[in-house]
Parts: sequence; structure tokens; C-alpha cells
Amino acid sequence: MKGIIMAGGSGTRLYPLTKAISKQILPIYDKPMIYYPLSVLMLAGIREILIISTPRDIDLFKDLLGTGRHLGIEIEYAIQDKPNGLAEAFIVGEEFIGNSSVALVLGDNIFYGTDFGHRVQEAASLEQGGIIFGCFVKDPSAYGVIEVDENEKPISIEEKPVFPKSKFAVPGLYFFDNHVVQRAKEVTPSPRGELEITSVIDQYLSRGELSVKLLGRGLAWLDTGTNESLLEASNFVEAIQKRQGLYIACIEEIAYRREYISRTQLIELARPLMKTDYGKYLMDIANEESSSVPFLFSS
Ligand code: G1P
Repeated sequence: MKGIIMAGGSGTRLYPLTKAISKQILPIYDKPMIYYPLSVLMLAGIREILIISTPRDIDLFKDLLGTGRHLGIEIEYAIQDKPNGLAEAFIVGEEFIGNSSVALVLGDNIFYGTDFGHRVQEAASLEQGGIIFGCFVKDPSAYGVIEVDENEKPISIEEKPVFPKSKFAVPGLYFFDNHVVQRAKEVTPSPRGELEITSVIDQYLSRGELSVKLLGRGLAWLDTGTNESLLEASNFVEAIQKRQGLYIACIEEIAYRREYISRTQLIELARPLMKTDYGKYLMDIANEESSSVPFLFSS
């Protein structure tokens, strides 16, 4: 399976913060926002990744992440000329996707929780159909909303409904088979003028090819759509990292533990960062006793 990170959009809801810079490059506590969705794809075991952004911002991501070789992965880049909607990711990414199945993660979605790594790894083994998730939230009307029956079978999906049919918001992480490219091409623009991801999901639903995994209390899905939620996300990451001493979305750690890079390579990555706790954390990992923590690395 291949992976796409959608890091476009105009970010107008965060102006003036995002007037001159991409939202997905803003800090979430100690690292750029895009580290978080990138870590999700890496945890899923996906090593071929396409980052899609705007003509203005694409070079920022290239500067930040390069070819991905230092992380033992391959990163390519593509441009979405206008904010035409998330479903366009599969059209822009058609050549990259080729004959593969594909995961799409939104560049501003943050996930953290027990067993999350295993859950996304499982989803990434998908060969047919589509998999989405459902997260219980207080106010789902700002999101795609999925209605399910008592067996978690999907009944309906709606984008930002005024009267949501359930409390389950659909987070920005989707797994599809290769039909997604064709199906994205069949989507027509919504009233807000976008090719909605919800319309692609709806096609899978109406063909009986959609599976929904509900994520329970143990999973934190954080939004970064407002100044308030942006700060809350930073505070959340700080609290967990300080308390546990285990970092969230540390892409170098994931690359090392997944054996994409060697200990020597990890030390090379840590060296220029030694003025920071982040760099020291990487160095500590390189120096840890081999049997001391692997059981902790489940998410
Ligand atoms: C998008 C999707 C929506 C999804 C949300 C998750 O919303 O359209 O279905 O629930 O991402 O973050 P948007 O970011 O366009 O408001």
C-alpha cells in the first residue's frame, strides 16, 4: 500500500497565522504538524509516500523532509493547484498510486492512543474496498459523519450535516483499494465547490464495500482547525511526552524501531539536534539496552 498526505488548503480559518505559511508546517508543541500524519503512515508500515501541497508551500515540505531516504522511506511531492477538495488527492496522485491500494491522511490530523499502530497496520493490509474510522465527538457537525448499525455496518455518510445522524465523526485517515482513482474522477463538486472525500466514501458505501472501525475512548483524535484546538493539541503532546518520556510522532524513532534505519543512522540524525530535548531523546533511544522498551512501542 502507498500513502498520501494532503497538506494543501488555504488555512484561512487560522489567519493571520497562516497568511504567509502552510498550516501543516506550524508547530504542534515541539515538531511541525506534518510529522504527526507522517508518523501515522509510517506506523501503518507504508514506506512510499506522496505529499501534496500548494504551489506556494510545496518547497517547505521538500526542505523539511527531502527524499525521505534518511528515514528509510521514499517521499515524492505533487502540487494541488487550487483547493479543489480532498478527493482530488487521488487524481493528482494517480501516477504515484499506479496499481496499488492507497491510504490518505490529512496533514492536520493528529492521532494518539493505545494500539493505534496495530490498528493502522491492519487497515493497511486491505486489498479490496475501503476502510474509514469513526470517532465519538461532542459536536460532529464540523466533520464528515458516519451512521452505523449495531454491528458497526455503515448506513449513511454526510459531510458537515446540520443535523448529524450520529456522534461519529470521520477522521482524516482513509484506506482504499485501487478503484479509488476512478471513483474520485466521478465525484462532482459539492455546494462548497469541492470534490469531497465524503462523496468517494459514499460510493464505497453504496456498493457495500465500506468497512467502518469505531475508535473508542482510548484513542485521541485531535483537530487543529482553530487557534484554540491548535494550542490544545500542543498542550496534549507536551503533557504526554513529559509524563511518559515517550514521544508522539517521532518519525526518526519509528524509522529506527521499524528497522528502516540503523543505529548509526539514528545517531547521525540526532547529532545536529543535540541542543534540544528532541535530539537527546533520539540519542537516548540509540543508547538504550536493546530489550528495555520494545513492548512500549505498540502505538
Ligand atoms: C475534512 C473532511 C471531513 C473530515 C475532516 C477531518 O473536513 O471533509 O469529512 O471529517 O476533514 O478532519 P475539512 O477539513 O475540509 O473541514
